[in-house]
Amino acid sequence: MGEEGERLYRKLSRAEALADIKNRMLEKDRSLDASAFEEVFDKATLQSVYELMRRGIFEDFYGVVSAGKESRIYYARNKNGEELAVKIYLVNNTEFRKTRMLYVAGDHNFERPGMSLRKFIDAWARREFRNLKTAFDSGVPVPKPYTVHRNILVMSFLGSDGLRYPLLRETRYSREEYLVTYGKVIDCVARLYRGAGIVHSDLSEFNIMAPNPEIVYFIDLSQAVSLTNRYAQIFLMRDLRNVNRFFSSVGIDVQDEESIFRELTGGEPPPELTPI
Ligand SMILES: Nc1ncnc2c1ncn2[C@@H]1O[C@H](COP(=O)(O)OP(=O)(O)O)[C@@H](O)[C@H]1O
Ligand SMILES: [Mg+2]
Repeated sequence: MGEEGERLYRKLSRAEALADIKNRMLEKDRSLDASAFEEVFDKATLQSVYELMRRGIFEDFYGVVSAGKESRIYYARNKNGEELAVKIYLVNNTEFRKTRMLYVAGDHNFERPGMSLRKFIDAWARREFRNLKTAFDSGVPVPKPYTVHRNILVMSFLGSDGLRYPLLRETRYSREEYLVTYGKVIDCVARLYRGAGIVHSDLSEFNIMAPNPEIVYFIDLSQAVSLTNRYAQIFLMRDLRNVNRFFSSVGIDVQDEESIFRELTGGEPPPELTPI
């Protein structure tokens, strides 16, 4: 066939593979029509999906778990049949960087002059991967992180047979049950703080899964900061306030956040700062 012929063959089969992946993604995602596809996923993202499949990280997409403005999460499986969540950060969101500056203060991975939006988002995905790994390795219940490649993060799927666990927000437990769940959530905040040395920083009933009253998982750790972040204490107070707000709303007599903060950190809570 000759070198030239081989090269052409490989190039064309790659194009075919990319088109095939695109079709599979479209098939799984009814909220996405073909004409909008290129706006949501650029060519580099498609190539990254291809790369991950080629490496055998996952075999195919089987459905869409979530379709947000900033990321889409697909349900996938690897060849061992393990269920995966594949989070793809969208690269077309020009607001992305602005809304994250608070969380990257002092993080040298982000404070590069002239850093492109694309590079920023890739670094953001790596950051969520790192945070998940730190939390997971410290025994905090979070999805197990498998791989990150550019703007794509692969983690274990929380749920079974393609059905994700309910978010805390979606649960309807009794007051006695919620009291148990509340204890678990505060316990996880403490383990994250003490064991992993990080603060979730976007904790609420939307980023906690609770398959039953006694089991909780924290998800969405991209904004989590290490205790060295200058605003870590403020974020911790905000997380506690959000958690308390939810549990108060379902009738729990919560422990006030200031005293939880003191027990956890041994220090005084920071003043509440309102946006200017
Ligand atoms: N590992 C996972 N397993 C199952 N479902 C998940 C997983 N991670 C996220 N989800 C689902 O996808 C939704 C969005 O994920 P999240 O990481 O919170 O991203 P964002 O809030 O930035 O869109 C979650 O509310 C949850 O329903
Ligand atoms: Mg979320």
